[in-house]
Amino acid sequence: MLKNALSAREIREKLTTKVLGQEILLYPVTDSTNLQLRQAAEKGAPTGLCIIAKEQTAGRGRLGRSFLSPPKNGIYMSVLLRPEIKLEQAALITPAVAVCVAQAIEAIAECQVTIKWVNDLFVREKKVCGILTETVLRPADQQLAYLVIGIGINLSDEGIPEAIKEIAGGILPTGETPPDRNQLIAEILNRMEDVLLPLQPDHFLPEYRSRSNLIGCPVTVFQNDIPQESGVAIDIDDSARLVLRLDSGEIKHLGSGEVSCRKTEKRD
Ligand code: BTN
Repeated sequence: MLKNALSAREIREKLTTKVLGQEILLYPVTDSTNLQLRQAAEKGAPTGLCIIAKEQTAGRGRLGRSFLSPPKNGIYMSVLLRPEIKLEQAALITPAVAVCVAQAIEAIAECQVTIKWVNDLFVREKKVCGILTETVLRPADQQLAYLVIGIGINLSDEGIPEAIKEIAGGILPTGETPPDRNQLIAEILNRMEDVLLPLQPDHFLPEYRSRSNLIGCPVTVFQNDIPQESGVAIDIDDSARLVLRLDSGEIKHLGSGEVSCRKTEKRD
């Protein structure tokens, strides 16, 4: 078997978890692992279920965008979590997962990972990973029912269309042997279990801040692709909101939306 071939058995052998990834479903191709996991959750699937696909035909990104998911070259995985946390704390999940994935990538590949608030991981100034956390509420009390945490990683830039090669890349430079995907998935799940159960902000927010490639940057804030305001990113607060000093001098804590760094003038 190819070193890089995905295998649920090989992933399980490398796990040190008690919950996450104890059940793994591996599909050759599916529409979206987030969508599949959501359907499984509605039928009562247990916390920790992990769905992985070798290829997605309708990968979903943040803000209603699509996430290109070609075969061979990526990791497309979703993890179900039924955590006992308040709805307000759900905003901490994506930053916590971003730190886990950054550490896991660095553990298996020679590279340095930075994080662009809130959910994008960068290597050599190109986006290599996106995280999409979907929150589902209980109809009865509007509290958290479960979370679907989706992670998409490019291993190399093979399959990335020319049109976006300036902003998206792979963990490893072109031509280098891709890392063992089973090992990378296990490293991610092992770290996620330690950091998400239980969720303690001081266990991951300091590292999230220190990996930030936005702090200190002049930025523009976009809503629905329309520039709204500009300023400088100065911090990430304890609720994982981006702290901005706007050009007007006002300090703003941004909980959602999209921000681009005007130093690099690249948007993903
Ligand atoms: C983003 O960059 O906006 C987030 C992308 C998240 C992509 C992953 S791939 C696995 C999971 N399934 C999906 O449909 N999306 C997430």
